[in-house]
Amino acid sequence: MSKMYKIAVVNGDGIGEEIVPVGVKVLKTVSQKFDFDIETTDFSWGAGHYLKHGEFMPPDGIEKLKKFDAIYFGAVGLPEVDDTLPAKDYTFKVRTELQQYVNYRPVKLFSGVKSPLRYKTEEDIDFVILRENNEGEFVQNGKILYPDTPNGMAVDTSIVTRLGVERIAHYAFKLAQKRKKRVTNVTKSNTLIYTLRFWDKIIGEVAKEYPDIEYTTMYIDNASASFVLKPEVFDVIVTTNMMGDILSDLGGAIMGSLGLGGSGNINPEGEFPSMFEPIHGSAPDIAGHNIANPIGQIWSAAIMLEHLGEINAAKDIIQGIEHTTAKGNLTKDLRGTASTSDIADSIIDYIISSKSITA
Ligand code: NAI
Ligand code: MG
Repeated sequence: MSKMYKIAVVNGDGIGEEIVPVGVKVLKTVSQKFDFDIETTDFSWGAGHYLKHGEFMPPDGIEKLKKFDAIYFGAVGLPEVDDTLPAKDYTFKVRTELQQYVNYRPVKLFSGVKSPLRYKTEEDIDFVILRENNEGEFVQNGKILYPDTPNGMAVDTSIVTRLGVERIAHYAFKLAQKRKKRVTNVTKSNTLIYTLRFWDKIIGEVAKEYPDIEYTTMYIDNASASFVLKPEVFDVIVTTNMMGDILSDLGGAIMGSLGLGGSGNINPEGEFPSMFEPIHGSAPDIAGHNIANPIGQIWSAAIMLEHLGEINAAKDIIQGIEHTTAKGNLTKDLRGTASTSDIADSIIDYIISSKSITA
């Protein structure tokens, strides 16, 4: 009997409603080819749900998600809804309550896509950002006092725990062992002298357990410049929640478009389901026109299958993406004329037609 995976599907808002359904089509196609089953259940959560029901997800939403093998997600947020809610009431909630402490965000130049870095090639742009996903600057512990008075004040707290740093560090060194054997800790411990010096100390301790891995540290300001000037120095980057958030949009930009970046919010122990989503948001500025680039969403499906152990199916999706971009079949964000569905159809055609070759 073929294996069956139960997937919770959350389109979310904006372009999520266009790119998630095509991602699901790709998943179903590849599952037929590689002989496993995907059973999807849709949850219409997000800012649209909030406008109708006053909440991003129902109170038992997390409990519902726990019953699945994985979550396939688009993005949440709409211009008419308070923009502090998408993270607080959905994304951060799922990431923390399901202990998805690794945010895995690969950066890779696909053939046929021109990077804005004109001297850089596919060999130069190929690394992974691991963003600590459960603590750091984004724990949302703070206070605002008397905001409309002259003595108004606000404070945010950043939290770094030994457990939190050790687990992401081990993940980084283990990943580097399967890649180019280099870990760069992107930090700012020269100025955030409590949290990030502690962060550096713990990663340095973990590094000693992996003598086969070249370990370096780099400050975030230099790292930002290096993304542009010498991306080839990176293999596995480990960094904090906010710095990883910012750097991954820069990673998307050097790939050619934010629309290309895929990611996984991973609970490595498999105690809870992991969630797979593109790195970008709901892009309300382009939603509803069938022009969004679906590749980041589709790549996220490949990352999900890899996580579930369907390695060959994951590779097939990546090949389908590369085959499509290499032909110059590109959406508007990459100066092409293809629609969202054209790109998805091309990837699906590749998956179906390459079947006869490999079968
Ligand atoms: P965004 O990532 O949605 O868009 C930034 C720019 O990139 C826009 O010009 C957009 O058109 C473009 N872009 C993004 N994805 C694209 C794609 N697939 N194809 C072509 N172009 C694409 O970020 P923004 O504008 O800051 O946020 C919009 C909304 O998304 C906000 O409500 C925000 O809170 C939410 N958001 C949600 C996230 C999530 O659910 N994980 C993550 C980031 C933002
Ligand atoms: Mg972001």
